[in-house]
Amino acid sequence: MSEHMKLERGEIYESGFRLDEDLTVIDHLGGTRKVDIYLCRSSALKMQVACKILRPEFCVHFKSLEAVIKEGELLSRMDHPNVMRGHSFELEPAPRIVMDYVGGSDLKSAFFTGNFAAFPLAEALSLVRQLADGLEHVHAQGVLHLDVKPSNILYADGRAVLIDFSVAREFDIEDLPRDNAGTRDWMAPEQTNRETVGPYTDVYGLGVVMYQLLTGGELPYKTVEVADDSSSSSDESSSSSSSSGSSDSSSSGSGGSVNKVPNYDVAPVHPSDIDSSVSREVGDIALRAVSVRVEERYGTPGEFGEALGGVGG
Ligand SMILES: Nc1ncnc2c1ncn2[C@@H]1O[C@H](COP(=O)(O)OP(=O)(O)OP(=O)(O)O)[C@@H](O)[C@H]1O
Ligand SMILES: [Mg+2]
Repeated sequence: MSEHMKLERGEIYESGFRLDEDLTVIDHLGGTRKVDIYLCRSSALKMQVACKILRPEFCVHFKSLEAVIKEGELLSRMDHPNVMRGHSFELEPAPRIVMDYVGGSDLKSAFFTGNFAAFPLAEALSLVRQLADGLEHVHAQGVLHLDVKPSNILYADGRAVLIDFSVAREFDIEDLPRDNAGTRDWMAPEQTNRETVGPYTDVYGLGVVMYQLLTGGELPYKTVEVADDSSSSSDESSSSSSSSGSSDSSSSGSGGSVNKVPNYDVAPVHPSDIDSSVSREVGDIALRAVSVRVEERYGTPGEFGEALGGVGG
């Protein structure tokens, strides 16, 4: 049995642990049920890296192993200052992806600490522009991210970096989603409904993030409880759809009895009516990005970024 499989449920590697001849653990950065993220020293790359490692209890699941390979492969194609870059991925001795380490914090942590002052308007707009640019790059590689949300955005020294390609996939025009994995509050209606997705689907996720940045964390569409039709909720969906807007765990599509879903019938409050320092023009851009109807939304992150380019802080 490998060292990795001896790790008890919930147990993490200590600082100084040698994962293999290349990687030494420096710190545990975070994790979810399935994965842990460590800050490591790579002797081969001679720098600090972040390492996403599949937890031992998932190492027996073929789908989870496949997901590591898939995410590692997609990340290795990325080469843009606002998109996470992957260095390598391996299944042995532990299924893992090695990527750049970005200090700072993810936007979800920033929201949770209520530290909205960390994002004055000019900085918030710059962040959204950078991510629109990054998403253009992702799409140019033939990939849709499909899980753009605060916990998947790292922010350090004025730079925003899109991470977590665990839901991402290659796409063709007129593609239908294979499932509705993603995170409901940031998921475009066409993704939730398993209709055709495209670059505009990632525009929506980034639009929700922008709306939150402008309004101190509000979601454009408030959630309502509906009876579960079984296809689109998961054990995590009830927390993924909290109306506070601070929670964002992923939804992946299996049973449950009550479902919290965004109510698209009620139009979002204009951001400038929530915060008067936000201009109508800036608020209009966020609202267009979160349009329920695809035809009314920016078609690509490039168009979204161009609109943002025309406004001041
Ligand atoms: N390269 C990195 N540098 C610094 N911190 C990171 C890095 N990658 C991830 N993190 C931190 O770890 C958290 C979780 O990472 P990530 O979003 O990739 O995985 P996840 O959502 O936990 O898992 P899953 O792959 O199941 O969706 C991030 O929100 C971020 O705080
Ligand atoms: Mg994530």
